[in-house]
Amino acid sequence: MNIAVLASGNGSNLQALMDAEGRGELAGGKIVLAVSDNPEAYALKRARDKGVETFVLEKTGFKSREEYDKAIVQSLREKKIELVVLAGFMRVLSPYFVDEYRDRIINIHPALLPSFRGAYGIKEAYENGVKVTGVTVHFVTKQLDAGPIILQAEVEIAEDDDMDSLEEKIHKVEHKLYPEAVRLFVQGKLRIEGKKVKVMK
Ligand code: GRF
Repeated sequence: MNIAVLASGNGSNLQALMDAEGRGELAGGKIVLAVSDNPEAYALKRARDKGVETFVLEKTGFKSREEYDKAIVQSLREKKIELVVLAGFMRVLSPYFVDEYRDRIINIHPALLPSFRGAYGIKEAYENGVKVTGVTVHFVTKQLDAGPIILQAEVEIAEDDDMDSLEEKIHKVEHKLYPEAVRLFVQGKLRIEGKKVKVMK
């Protein structure tokens, strides 16, 4: 199954996914395209180093979010992408994109949804003094960070954690959880039933 990863920044999740693929852990899933809105994204270098094709599309010059997404979707179609993996892609997808790849877009969020939605999941959990936060992988729907949840994992916030140490803990968990979710998708083991996702054995 051809997979595209969309990333705007560091790309450590992209790296974890490519490494998992290299170890044969994506059940035949193949990352064939890395897409970014940011030409400076380190994620692009990571992709190139692994020989994964890249597609950079800056947001300037597009009339609307939908026009931008049409260009992305076209590049995904050309590569016969069947799974779209968002990994730190800092743009909200248009309803057009979500419809085109209905139930085939997944995202990773650095908190236990539905807590701490939005762009500051780690910081908000930390500042709110919660003792346990975590990571969520979910399907993408038109409502931000609210699609059916595929997998979650907890991360404890210790008294001596600061933002940096917490971020490090979260990323470590992400790098295990995301490849697992992708593998389950590729194996056809995820069934969406309303708000819930059933993980088949
Ligand atoms: C991750 O924390 C992910 O949960 C969030 O964006 C971050 C991306 O990190 N959606 P990276 O670019 O994969 O290192």
